[in-house]
Amino acid sequence: MSNQPIGIFDSGVGGLTVMAAVRKALPNESIIYLGDTARVPYGTKSAETILRYTEECLAFLAGKNVKAIVIACNSASAHALPYLQHKFHLPLLGVIEAGVEAALRVSRNKKIGVIGTAATINSDVYAKELKRRDETAAVTGLACPLFVPLVEEGWLDHPVAFEIAQHYLKPLAGGGIDTLILGCTHYPLLKNVIQKVVGDDVDLIDSAESVAAALQKILTEKKMPAGGQKPFCQLTVTDQTPSFEKLARRFLGEEVPAVKRIVF
Ligand code: DGL
Repeated sequence: MSNQPIGIFDSGVGGLTVMAAVRKALPNESIIYLGDTARVPYGTKSAETILRYTEECLAFLAGKNVKAIVIACNSASAHALPYLQHKFHLPLLGVIEAGVEAALRVSRNKKIGVIGTAATINSDVYAKELKRRDETAAVTGLACPLFVPLVEEGWLDHPVAFEIAQHYLKPLAGGGIDTLILGCTHYPLLKNVIQKVVGDDVDLIDSAESVAAALQKILTEKKMPAGGQKPFCQLTVTDQTPSFEKLARRFLGEEVPAVKRIVF
């Protein structure tokens, strides 16, 4: 057993969708969340910069004595996870594997769409992983760079969000996909708008629950689940913005602890 906290990291608010799923699945675990709000978005940046920023954020969390870290950011999982797994001596989990597994489980025709940031889509990591597990998978990847600022602004049901989604998702029409991976942890916050555009026949994959299940499995295997202590939850950011607190309140759906700004 270990009462050390779990670290959850994202470039901004998106990882709160994963944090909510982790809290639901693992209510005894303490969590330290870090949102790199001073440098969001990551998805428009180079692989080298994403790796450097991610490494700095993980070093901060590792310094907080966490027992495992969830990289709740697809852009960082795509560009930094394989390298950082060798650098940090604690379990590191990304979000891509969980999304890929869930999509292959759900899809009947194996025609799968993936939407994400430019960094994630250009890395081709989803297509590679899907095809590695199922060579019959036909994958269409689309970058939707304006989705992240929409979420960070809290424009979740705004008509502009709908118009932008229609524009980005147009290439999917007529392609016959039955499953769409939300390959950015910000996007579940736009689920309503995205579902309206692609139609109810397409299943949307939000990897948050699968990531929480994978984390639970690792903690059990390593005999590290928490127990016998009141869990705590800390939200830290690299820049204090009113929108972060507002969204945190909306998506954690309960009283949110004070948000603390940190400087590396
Ligand atoms: N939430 C992130 C992701 O899953 C990053 C978005 C961004 O910073 O561009 O990719």
